[in-house]
Amino acid sequence: MTGEFDGLVAIVTGGGSGIGRATATALAARGARVAVLDLAIDDLPEGSTGYRADVTDRASVSTAVGAAAAELGGIDIVVNSAGISAIGTVEANDDPEWARVLDINVTGTARVTAAALPWLRESRAAAVVNLCSVAALNGLPDRALYSASKGAVLALTFAMATDHVREGVRINCVCPGTVSTAFVERMLQNFPDPVVERAALDARQATGRMVTPEEVAGAILYLASPLSGSTTGTALDVDGGLTRLRVRPS
Ligand SMILES: NC(=O)c1ccc[n+]([C@@H]2O[C@H](COP(=O)([O-])OP(=O)(O)OC[C@H]3O[C@@H](n4cnc5c(N)ncnc54)[C@H](O)[C@@H]3O)[C@@H](O)[C@H]2O)c1
Repeated sequence: MTGEFDGLVAIVTGGGSGIGRATATALAARGARVAVLDLAIDDLPEGSTGYRADVTDRASVSTAVGAAAAELGGIDIVVNSAGISAIGTVEANDDPEWARVLDINVTGTARVTAAALPWLRESRAAAVVNLCSVAALNGLPDRALYSASKGAVLALTFAMATDHVREGVRINCVCPGTVSTAFVERMLQNFPDPVVERAALDARQATGRMVTPEEVAGAILYLASPLSGSTTGTALDVDGGLTRLRVRPS
């Protein structure tokens, strides 16, 4: 079977878990050669090759991106999915936590993209997809630091898309609602009543349920596909209607 990603090489950061894992699996199933860059690479998605990397460490990123390009034959697609959560109002997180979350979610995205650009410029189908969030577009309770990080990812996506459009590199992002992954399971444990908080997270999507990692992967593949050659500098909501729909409470 042939797929639109046949012959293309994709790097997926955070590909060991959640949305990144679902994306790496889907890209491999549709013909891409996939490099997963993650802190741990002992449990990899099917069809991928692992490269240990910490997106907060420029040397680690350069080494992993260079090794992936050399071994898999260049880089055509980058999916920046490595990221962490943060809970609380603007009073909740101290300076080291602000620095840590911004370093992973924002600067990590910039580091990996910058390291991949020399190969992306050589590609016939270059695409970067960043993981933004509904938190960049909506005032969500208790997500001050996390929202700030995703607002920065949104702005970074538009800025990078502008800088590199003439080089043939498309750059977009997805804005998922709450996705049922390990990331959310860990976050729920920080609430006094995780069951009540889970029900509130389900209800926040107009569809009444959390988004699945596979649904986000589908949107990422749409943006990354060579069939989407005129789509750049966009933010695609994958949020069960959270951002735009105003349904009456049932
Ligand atoms: N789950 C959600 O509800 C949701 C919603 C909107 C956006 N997002 C975003 O999607 C992305 C993925 O989230 P997820 O739910 O799949 O999370 P996850 O926790 O399931 O997976 C995140 C992956 O990133 C890796 N990672 C973390 N820090 C890293 C670092 N310093 N270097 C390299 N890898 C690192 C982890 O090891 C893990 O494999 C994140 O950017 C997150 O902000 C998630």
